[in-house]
Amino acid sequence: MVSPIAASVVYLLLTRYAAAIAAPSKSIHDNKPEISCSQFIVPITASADNYIVKDPVRVDSNIDAVNYAWDYDTWSHGRYNQSRIASVNPVKGTYNISVQLCVPSEARGTGQTLQIVTHGLLFDKRYWDSEYEPENYSYVRAAVGAGYSVLTWDRLGTGQSDKPDAYDVVQAPLELEILHGITILARSGQLSKMAQTSFSAPLPAIKKYIHIGHSFGTILTLAFLVKYPTLSDGAIATGQILSPHGGAATQASFGWQYAHQHDPKLYADYGSGYIVPGTESDIQQGFFSVVDGLMDPKALSYANSIKNPATVGEFHSILLSVGLPAPNYTAPLQFFLAEYDYLTCGGDCKNAYNLTQLKQSLYPQAAALEAYIQPGTGHGLTLHKNATAGYQVMFDFLKRHQL
Ligand SMILES: *[C@@H]1O[C@H](CO)[C@@H](O)[C@H](O)[C@H]1NC(C)=O
Ligand SMILES: *[C@@H]1O[C@H](CO)[C@@H](O)[C@H](O)[C@H]1NC(C)=O
Ligand SMILES: *[C@@H]1O[C@H](CO)[C@@H](O)[C@H](O)[C@H]1NC(C)=O
Ligand SMILES: *[C@@H]1O[C@H](CO)[C@@H](O)[C@H](O)[C@H]1NC(C)=O
Ligand SMILES: *[C@@H]1O[C@H](CO)[C@@H](O)[C@H](O)[C@H]1NC(C)=O
Ligand SMILES: *[C@@H]1O[C@H](CO)[C@@H](O)[C@H](O)[C@H]1NC(C)=O
Repeated sequence: MVSPIAASVVYLLLTRYAAAIAAPSKSIHDNKPEISCSQFIVPITASADNYIVKDPVRVDSNIDAVNYAWDYDTWSHGRYNQSRIASVNPVKGTYNISVQLCVPSEARGTGQTLQIVTHGLLFDKRYWDSEYEPENYSYVRAAVGAGYSVLTWDRLGTGQSDKPDAYDVVQAPLELEILHGITILARSGQLSKMAQTSFSAPLPAIKKYIHIGHSFGTILTLAFLVKYPTLSDGAIATGQILSPHGGAATQASFGWQYAHQHDPKLYADYGSGYIVPGTESDIQQGFFSVVDGLMDPKALSYANSIKNPATVGEFHSILLSVGLPAPNYTAPLQFFLAEYDYLTCGGDCKNAYNLTQLKQSLYPQAAALEAYIQPGTGHGLTLHKNATAGYQVMFDFLKRHQL
């Protein structure tokens, strides 16, 4: 929970930056009168116990990037091996985080549930708000259309947010605390206050706060339910579930290159240890399925064009946040999975997990625990042709639970 001191620090920062943050709205929904959006920067103060990795491979070139993958994947000294964690490393800072708030323009009783939506590795908040055929792919557009307010954000190290040290700072524990900071900002009403100046109509009065993630964003969201179970009124975990088949993808399968060398102009802000899949085929491998013909090659090209680097520190810390019990989480939780998920289910989510076991061991008090497999889709759920039909399944779940 937030101490009064931490809360007042956040408040001071807010008052200090409140004037600076309200940027003019630039949104792909500007031609849709029923959706109002604004993007702005919020300073989030957070501290966490990150990890120090023994003998990390530094990545300052494409050759280093392959060496990193080799080191991570090697059975005798790398992958998932907690003996590589040397010690805990407390980190603390104030980070500029880019957020987008979208609400129904004519609030009048809608938009009162705020979805706090976290993207996964290799993307930024555009994963949820495709500029390519938004009617067919944008989750944000669909969710606002279904009456929700939606807050998307660029995780630390991506998009328009800060890009600090890729080894010691941009790791899962700190990113979890930033999600917590954003949630506190929203729940305290400060976020709406900051945003209001860039909306012409009064923002909806938010009554409920739910958390939605994709992939690594789901890992952070589930870790949030473990540590801050009372701060979420409901959650949807997309593209991620505990599965014995989850480890099939290796680091080598991402085709890593050093971001700065891959595209010095696009990735000018990214330093040592930021890595990115080299080719469109590498993005396809992890995120798309052509089975059933639900992939549009142009959506793949779009995904490749908005790919974002990940950090070495994220891959060394990610698994330590997976599979933790959330005994005190009492709200509903839905797993929304891609049928042909290569990264999470080893290519096939059917019969790849045991919901009864998850309920007993991880979510004993959840008001509801459900899983749905979206057919014909790869890991990048929002970028397959049938995406919007899948969104309705998610909204149905929420509405069934009065969210
Ligand atoms: C982890 O690495 C250590 C050496 O660093 C090795 O002895 C051990 O067998 C590895 N464990 C696994 C599960 O691979
Ligand atoms: C965050 O944004 C503020 C206000 O625009 C700016 O003064 C500050 O330097 C930024 N901090 C970082 C670490 O970029
Ligand atoms: C959405 O997809 C359908 C079917 O592929 C296509 O006909 C339509 O043009 C797309 N909509 C937009 C706005 O691109
Ligand atoms: C759950 O709540 C109980 C009672 O408040 C507390 O003692 C326990 O540490 C909590 N468990 C976790 C995993 O946070
Ligand atoms: C799922 O887990 C439950 C509880 O541990 C167990 O009884 C059941 O046999 C498992 N189902 C399968 C198909 O393994
Ligand atoms: C599209 O998604 C919906 C919702 O999950 C599903 O009912 C339908 O079968 C899917 N269509 C195809 C062609 O897979």
